Amino acid sequence: MLELRRVSKHYKVGSESPIRAVDDVSMTLSGGEVLALYGPSGSGKSTLIELIAGLKKPDDGSILIGGRDLLKMSRSQANDYRLNDLGIVMQPSSLQPGARAIASASIKLMAGGKRAARDRIEPLLVELGLGDRLRHRTEELSMGERQRVLIALALSRDPKLVLADEPTASLDTENTQQVFSLLRGMCVARRMALLLVTHDPAAAAYADRSYELRDGCLSERRFDDTPLGAS
Ligand SMILES: Nc1ncnc2c1ncn2[C@@H]1O[C@H](COP(=O)(O)OP(=O)(O)OP(=O)(O)O)[C@@H](O)[C@H]1O
Ligand SMILES: [Mg+2]
Repeated sequence: MLELRRVSKHYKVGSESPIRAVDDVSMTLSGGEVLALYGPSGSGKSTLIELIAGLKKPDDGSILIGGRDLLKMSRSQANDYRLNDLGIVMQPSSLQPGARAIASASIKLMAGGKRAARDRIEPLLVELGLGDRLRHRTEELSMGERQRVLIALALSRDPKLVLADEPTASLDTENTQQVFSLLRGMCVARRMALLLVTHDPAAAAYADRSYELRDGCLSERRFDDTPLGAS
């Protein structure tokens, strides 16, 4: 589903030597597979996500989505990719204040009409345990509930690839486990590929593989002999 071939992105600020935010990264991710991506602050995780989302262009390498080269797509093909093939799980702070949960979650479906959008999103919200929160406004939802609204939004058009950049950053342990579990369950069942960027070692239990970025370089990370919480 997703293949990165020797992708690099370097930032140049002033006359200082360039920051190697992403450095010669190669990886593959298949439908139904969950990959957890770890890394300290500034290691290039968000940059990598933005490259895959087509929001930034790499200096080197290629990014293939279902075999298609993202960098060779026309503007309209890239827009279509972002709307239909990609789901991005955003942070709770991005939810519009005052909006009802069902409206927030159905934004990506609105082109087909408000009624159809809501009919389509409701079962997904119910599946996410928000059946009795559909008409709650952003401020009336807990952080965990807000994050689940954003999962519904990300999955609403049945994307092939789901990107989540620290989806549990503002959640407590219980909600974190629930969000990891829901994301994994829903993506695997729908054969979506999930790339989960996180600082939380608990995510490894929900992933098929774990990788680590350090100074832009990717390596496989094993948790077998790491005591829980030690990393
Ligand atoms: N637009 C930019 N211009 C210059 N440098 C940038 C830019 N964006 C990011 N960087 C630098 O690139 C490096 C990687 O940043 P990135 O945001 O990808 O890290 P991250 O792993 O997501 O960190 P965090 O865990 O704090 O979110 C950092 O050193 C950052 O300062
Ligand atoms: Mg980041």
